[in-house]
Amino acid sequence: MPLFPDYFQDWLFDALALQPGDELCDELLEPLHTLHRRLMASDAATAYADDPAAMRSYACFYMPINMPKLWRMLDRCGDALTTALANGPVTVTELGCGPGTFLWALLFYLRHHRPDLLPNIGKLMGVDRSPVALKLAGKFAKSIRRDPLLAKVPCEFVQGDWREHSGNAGIVITGNVLNEADDTAITFGTPAEQLLIIIEPGTTAVFQQILPLRQQLIDGGFQINFPCPSQHACPLAADNWCHFHINRFELPLIQRMANRLHRQNDRHHFIGFVFSGTTTNAENQWRVLSRLRRVHRSGIRYICDGRHVVEAVLGRRDKATGNAAFAKAAAGDRILMDGPRDAATFAQSKHIRSTDRIDIVD
Ligand SMILES: C[S@@+](CC[C@H](N)C(=O)[O-])C[C@H]1O[C@@H](n2cnc3c(N)ncnc32)[C@H](O)[C@@H]1O
Repeated sequence: MPLFPDYFQDWLFDALALQPGDELCDELLEPLHTLHRRLMASDAATAYADDPAAMRSYACFYMPINMPKLWRMLDRCGDALTTALANGPVTVTELGCGPGTFLWALLFYLRHHRPDLLPNIGKLMGVDRSPVALKLAGKFAKSIRRDPLLAKVPCEFVQGDWREHSGNAGIVITGNVLNEADDTAITFGTPAEQLLIIIEPGTTAVFQQILPLRQQLIDGGFQINFPCPSQHACPLAADNWCHFHINRFELPLIQRMANRLHRQNDRHHFIGFVFSGTTTNAENQWRVLSRLRRVHRSGIRYICDGRHVVEAVLGRRDKATGNAAFAKAAAGDRILMDGPRDAATFAQSKHIRSTDRIDIVD
């Protein structure tokens, strides 16, 4: 479900000083061509952040594409977010915030789902080393004050290295930043005090980069609320990678720009993790990792319980009302699979049985 508020495009265009139709002008699209080439070439990956034209284009195109990634994860991490915000005031920090992408995404999410929790945000804080990015973030903050529901949320933007600010906020979000870092080891607070959200490009190389951090956080006592339903070494680590996707054309504005940029693939892949001190029930819980593939009226898809990755099969003769959710679940959903088998036995057989009971958890 899109969470862009009705005024989203006005808000975006107001902060970027754009008029309707400007999204297709060369002034905006040319930097995106260059930015894309730079992001592909790792040796110049960060140079765009100091270029006002590139940052403006990034904010117009990539910020709206990135926001739904956070929304999908927050929908699927149990009550980790509500627990983190329950005893406000809570500081929310985005490390490497650029234009403030995930700060605004979180605000829009709460505005839509839990406006009662908005007063529990003590402060939004964006940290970035680029003054160009921070200036832009400040413009979005100014513009957001026009929404009476969000007008009172204090915003602060700090220039600096994100490593210096990772330990001291109740909710910490890093998005598309760790992939630019040589070393992803981070100083964090304690699991009882912090909710950590990591969102990165959905490539195998970035997944390998994040795995040591995942282990660092498990060793530090954090629970994984998304995506792994358990705390074990990742079973995908050796030969695959855990990633999800959103439809980047949720906004017609982005579809128009993507068409002009010849970027017609609607899928935008990402890697995402939510860590906190809140325990997510792991028993019989499986994360759906792929779309349903239909072969001769059977359904096949990858699911993972954090210990076993299984290419599970629901044969046409085994379809039943009780296990229909196996086919119905979306990639990224968590399912509860109840049957009189342990996970290891199921992982070997791979077959869903007509007597298995499957429910979508979130
Ligand atoms: C790809 S942008 C991501 C912006 C935003 N988080 C998003 O996902 O849309 C990466 C941002 O991280 C910032 N950045 C990279 N390394 C940094 C560092 N060591 N300390 C602070 N900011 C950093 C860059 O200046 C840039 O604004």
